Amino acid sequence: MSQFGDYQQEIYLNGLGGVQPSFPFTHAELESAAEAVLPRSVWSYVAGGAGDEFTQRANVRAFERWGLVPRMFVGAAQRDLSVDLFGLRMPSPLFLAPIGVIGLCAQDGHGDVATARASELTGVPMVASTLSVDPMERVAEELVDTPGFFQLYTPTDKDLAENLVRRAELAGFRGIVVTLDTWITGWRPRDLSTSNFPQLRGHCLANYTADPVFRALLARSPEEDPGAAILHWTQLFGNPLTWDDLPWLRSLTALPLIVKGICHPEDVRRAKDLGVDGIYCSNHGGRQANGGLPALDVLPEVVAAADGMPVLFDSGVRTGADVIKALALGATAVGIGRPYAYGLALGGVDGVVHVLRSLLAEADLIMAVDGYPTLADLTAEALRRVS
Ligand SMILES: Cc1cc2nc3c(=O)[nH]c(=O)nc-3n(C[C@H](O)[C@H](O)[C@H](O)COP(=O)(O)O)c2cc1C
Repeated sequence: MSQFGDYQQEIYLNGLGGVQPSFPFTHAELESAAEAVLPRSVWSYVAGGAGDEFTQRANVRAFERWGLVPRMFVGAAQRDLSVDLFGLRMPSPLFLAPIGVIGLCAQDGHGDVATARASELTGVPMVASTLSVDPMERVAEELVDTPGFFQLYTPTDKDLAENLVRRAELAGFRGIVVTLDTWITGWRPRDLSTSNFPQLRGHCLANYTADPVFRALLARSPEEDPGAAILHWTQLFGNPLTWDDLPWLRSLTALPLIVKGICHPEDVRRAKDLGVDGIYCSNHGGRQANGGLPALDVLPEVVAAADGMPVLFDSGVRTGADVIKALALGATAVGIGRPYAYGLALGGVDGVVHVLRSLLAEADLIMAVDGYPTLADLTAEALRRVS
């Protein structure tokens, strides 16, 4: 049976044949290589965060406060990283977090499609953002048999929201992720200093401009009058949802409904009572509100409040060891964000595949060395605080 850790053998064997790896293996190298190839404005948008980026850094550092305790005489020759999520059997607990400008990170400008291809090649599910260069139907085509999820930024126009969800269902997405922390844009000094907000320049709006409900709201088509379409988009993008809106959101689909941005146990319980299927614990990678706790620090209480309901997690995951720690703290599935955007910038589909395979290989080999053969073995008992 093949194991994710086999990726390292493949690399060493290729080396014997004189083939050197094309992509870096550490996050720091990946990041600086991506910085060198991305246009300035895209680089700042992806790498930057809210305020002085304290929360963004804290997300990453939070993982350093935990260490895994090795167990011996386990003989973990075979590891099983597969996971059940909303009735779907996934080969691993990784998923690709939604990234709104992922389209622009690819050198051919079609990064949503490239990410979907990488998802299909690795079996790592993609959560496709509402903000994409190519419309969701095109992205879904590339997923083939790998389950994908559609991330909804809920517009203020309810008919449009309903139509986006209907289109996601028809396109074959297997769940709807509603992001709650981005109805307004956080204070982002890097983007402010270049006065760059990609959507205002007309980027990543294909899901709107391809939508008949959105088009019907315009006096002239987006092709005839792109400026008016963008202006209209700014007026309906962000819906400051309240608990009163959750029954409506729930009524939009029979697909699993997952709410993203939940970090407080009371919010978990309320969302659960109102019928959501999954909680997505995240602080948007520190891009939205600075001064917050690292997402990892709130994960255990979110998991406890979810009381058996799946908890997806992201924010600050940079290594396979981070994946293992998030799982041990109770995450059902772990989202990769910026690292795959950098892989895409460097090498398109192959770059994303490399990033995912590297994370999975490292996670798998840690489970082998430390004697944790299954995800069920990875509990909080496996971790200690680093003193
Ligand atoms: C450039 C960029 C764009 C993003 N766009 C979206 C988006 O469209 N929808 C969404 O729910 N989250 C979005 N996110 C947040 C990610 O889904 C995820 O929460 C975050 O990247 C995790 O932090 P990390 O990348 O530092 O690990 C975006 C993140 C980045 C870096």
